[in-house]
Amino acid sequence: MIINEYIAELKQLLMHERSQAKTIGFVPTMGALHPGHLELMKQAKKENDILVASIFVNPIQFNNPEDLKKYPRTFETDRQMLEDIGCDFLFYPSAEEIYPEPDNTYYDFGALAQCMEGEKRPGHFNGVAIVVRKLFDIVEPDKAYFGEKDFQQLAIIQALVRKLNMPVQVIPCPIVREVDGLAMSSRNMRLSKEARQEAPFIYETLKRAITLFPTYSPEALKHWVAGQFENKETFTVDYIEIADTTELQAVHNWEDASGISLFVAVFLEEVRLIDNIRII
Ligand code: PAF
Repeated sequence: MIINEYIAELKQLLMHERSQAKTIGFVPTMGALHPGHLELMKQAKKENDILVASIFVNPIQFNNPEDLKKYPRTFETDRQMLEDIGCDFLFYPSAEEIYPEPDNTYYDFGALAQCMEGEKRPGHFNGVAIVVRKLFDIVEPDKAYFGEKDFQQLAIIQALVRKLNMPVQVIPCPIVREVDGLAMSSRNMRLSKEARQEAPFIYETLKRAITLFPTYSPEALKHWVAGQFENKETFTVDYIEIADTTELQAVHNWEDASGISLFVAVFLEEVRLIDNIRII
């Protein structure tokens, strides 16, 4: 695996690959890799000639400086995991390389960026859009892979690609879960032993919730989910939403959309975890 920190050098190397008609699959990450990331990598490897991964903890997508400080950084383990799955190129730039000067681009994603994560984490999706655009410009992938745990991020990136006519296919990949159901996330590393034992309750609740469809209305179902978490003092709900799967807007009747999912964000101790499940 070639590890490169510099945009110009990586572009040169990838241009050489492209000149041999090789297709490029790309998995951007912030490191602290887990088996969920590796599933994205494996799929990218299967569907392309070359796999490029990036590790960059993007400072401008953290609305909370404490969260940025505490974000796990595990470069040696990440590098080994990428070697083991046969990643071809790892882009590992510094913040100065990505942001030689502040990038104040503002992307208007309308309502898509104003609900759920967008509402709770102001500026987050703009920061994601800025870095993903830069990374796509550098790597020029044929296909880029994103997990459905960050469902709204995926929708934002699809909107970005449409808005800018970027020649990349965004591939959504299913949520990868631990055996006990907890959605894999780099943030899980920050859970204490006790919190880690409590965490599967999130997915258990989502699974129980969908058995109440369609008897409960969307409003009643949200209420039911909120009640489950209120009964557990270790959890604090940030939001619970039932929304359509394209615009991610709240639905009030089951007939409002053909694809509907239940989304939750909760704090467990001080760690913020998100998950979602398809209802219809
Ligand atoms: O999902 C992530 O890890 C990040 O938001 C991404 C897409 C790599 C952008 O920094």
